[in-house]
Amino acid sequence: MIRRFFLLFFLFFTQFASLQAFTGTYGINYGRIADNIPSPDEVVTLLRAAKIRNIRIYDADHSVLKAFSGTGLDIVIGVTNGQLQDMSSSADHALNWVKQNVQAFLPETRIRGIAVGNEVLGGSNNALWGVLLDAAKNIYNATKKLHLDKLIQISTAHSFAVFQTSYPPSSCKFNDNIKQYMKPLLEFFQQIGSPFCVNAYPFLVYIGDPENIDINYALFQPTKGIDDPVYKLHYDNMLDAQIDAAYTALEDAGFHKMEVIVTETGWASAGDQNEVGANVTNARTYNYNLRKRLAKKKGTPHRPKDVLKAYIFAIFNEDSKPGPTSERNYGLFKADGSISYNVGFHGLNAGYSSHLSLKDINTQGLSRSYAITIILCLSTLILMIF
Ligand SMILES: *[C@@H]1O[C@H](CO)[C@@H](O)[C@H](O)[C@H]1NC(C)=O
Ligand SMILES: *[C@@H]1O[C@H](CO)[C@@H](O)[C@H](O)[C@H]1NC(C)=O
Repeated sequence: MIRRFFLLFFLFFTQFASLQAFTGTYGINYGRIADNIPSPDEVVTLLRAAKIRNIRIYDADHSVLKAFSGTGLDIVIGVTNGQLQDMSSSADHALNWVKQNVQAFLPETRIRGIAVGNEVLGGSNNALWGVLLDAAKNIYNATKKLHLDKLIQISTAHSFAVFQTSYPPSSCKFNDNIKQYMKPLLEFFQQIGSPFCVNAYPFLVYIGDPENIDINYALFQPTKGIDDPVYKLHYDNMLDAQIDAAYTALEDAGFHKMEVIVTETGWASAGDQNEVGANVTNARTYNYNLRKRLAKKKGTPHRPKDVLKAYIFAIFNEDSKPGPTSERNYGLFKADGSISYNVGFHGLNAGYSSHLSLKDINTQGLSRSYAITIILCLSTLILMIF
């Protein structure tokens, strides 16, 4: 009897401890628009060697979901933009989608979130702007119906196209053309406790105006930084300023409590002639300094208590991506699994003795949630004994 009681408590608290879609502060995007990258099983090996716990994919590929089974890796999957119309118009289709792509793989595959669409608002396909909210609602309702709503976080990632101005951070507002879609979306996400997800690229800001922007500011290198005259705050790197711009837009729209999570950030290691600054040295500098920044577990100047969490873009260079050369060169790893440049991770064929130069962030996050579980269980046990 006592054992059963203990077991129930244990189950309850492990469940409780894993409600978050993000453990620690460092995650990575697993884009797969390539015909030459390693198999999902090899990717699991690579991620475990690098001790990266949080992964995002852009679809719900079953070979990936199977490979992640039993690995302990937390994964956020995606409803693609091409599926949004269908998900918004049919609650049944949304329910089936969640059954087939989420429920069927739980609990062995730790699916912790569903990103509904990617960079929809402000994106070129404005027919989707009006369907995003209903798609998100139907997907959420489906998780609720299947009693998965406490386990699976529903969100959508935005690009900086949703903002009117983002400099200085205190001046940021949502663009007028998407406001009517953004407001109700945020109200819904606030209700269900989801964060605001943003893809933030100092690289793109820099290549837009290389004459006037100090690349070192974008790369987290020492500079004079910038001062925000309204906030009276100092920024020593562009990413922090971008995040505070997003917080400002949220506050301006009336959402003072919503957390901002960076769902993509990165730096290309190669680019076209006009993509100034896309090279291996800069990509390494950005990603190395970003890791250090995230490992500090600190908030931003404007929101010091909201610890910055980010998913790096991306694991691999993706050779089949269209667009400028930079698009195919964001990977920390090359297609063959070797490192693109050294930020403390080892490639697939380099052996896995990982002596990381940085204190690993994710294991700390992991051990904290387990520590809570253990403490709670121990106190339960003590209560039962006395
Ligand atoms: C979701 O479910 C709630 C009740 O559980 C219902 O009121 C609402 O209309 C549903 N939303 C959609 C978009 O189906
Ligand atoms: C990369 O670009 C920077 C300027 O942004 C330059 O100083 C550096 O030499 C370049 N590195 C390589 C390897 O081309």
